[in-house]
Amino acid sequence: MEFVQFSVKENVGILTVARPAALNALNDQVIRELSEALDQVDPGVVRCLIVRGEGEKAFVAGADIGQMSSLSKAEGQTFGKLGNDVFRKLETLPIPTIAAVCGFALGGGCELAMSCDIRLASETAVFGQPEVGLGITPGFGGTQRMARLIGVGRAKELLYTARKVKAPEALAIGLVQGVYPVETLMDEAMKLASRIAANAPIAVRAVKKAVNEGLQVDMDRAIVIEEELFGSCFETVDQKNAMAAFLEKRKADPFVNR
Ligand code: HXC
Repeated sequence: MEFVQFSVKENVGILTVARPAALNALNDQVIRELSEALDQVDPGVVRCLIVRGEGEKAFVAGADIGQMSSLSKAEGQTFGKLGNDVFRKLETLPIPTIAAVCGFALGGGCELAMSCDIRLASETAVFGQPEVGLGITPGFGGTQRMARLIGVGRAKELLYTARKVKAPEALAIGLVQGVYPVETLMDEAMKLASRIAANAPIAVRAVKKAVNEGLQVDMDRAIVIEEELFGSCFETVDQKNAMAAFLEKRKADPFVNR
């Protein structure tokens, strides 16, 4: 892969968009490589995934404007679907995901961050959906995920105006869950990922599935989704060992992901 790197460090996967000459802008090759990298994430090994951009200036400055500029209607729709399919793959990845956003997260970059479960930002981070200033709509899920994440009114204000949001405001409106100096952002993301990775992996994955799938249906069906996932945990070695350790007043062994 030319523009995407994937590595694993102690149960935490790190996926890096690395096209710094174009501020990590997403052309079709980058998007295809992202898809390939996501296919490499093995939930048997990786318990949390961090998504980042190379360099300090940009997480991802959007979809590649040069590549988009001459698209026809049909090609535009195909490009949107290409990104949507990959971002949906990321959103529904069985393990938790954290976007570590340093610098610009604009357009497709903001959409990539919003496809992750949790967003941590550098103090220098800038978010936004500038698309209407370029004569297009957001096309990688921005209209849908932003409204779900920060509320319809706030999302529409940002989407209609193309206004950029700096890190403190992003924190205040719930677009990100933490803001840190550039130098410590990745350490903080690793700390959070490690904390998640230390919990029972099957239970953590079940929580993600319950939240994601439950939010798509009414409450009566949502609690059934939770009940089924809750029940499934009782077939796991980790549940048996952790509860036995509690009852025997001893420290639990590390979770085995079974
Ligand atoms: C292609 C991009 C790019 C992009 C930056 N670059 N963003 N190339 N697509 N989205 C390139 C520049 O052309 C330049 O290349 C290099 O990266 C450095 O960028 P500069 O503009 O010189 O840097 P600076 O002046 O510091 O400005 C940074 C910036 C600006 C504010 C982030 O680059 C910018 O506004 N970028 C576009 C942001 C945007 O509108 N994103 C949304 C795109 S639409 P050269 O070769 O000149 O050095 C979108 C739709 C998603 O994302 C859905 C699609 C279906």
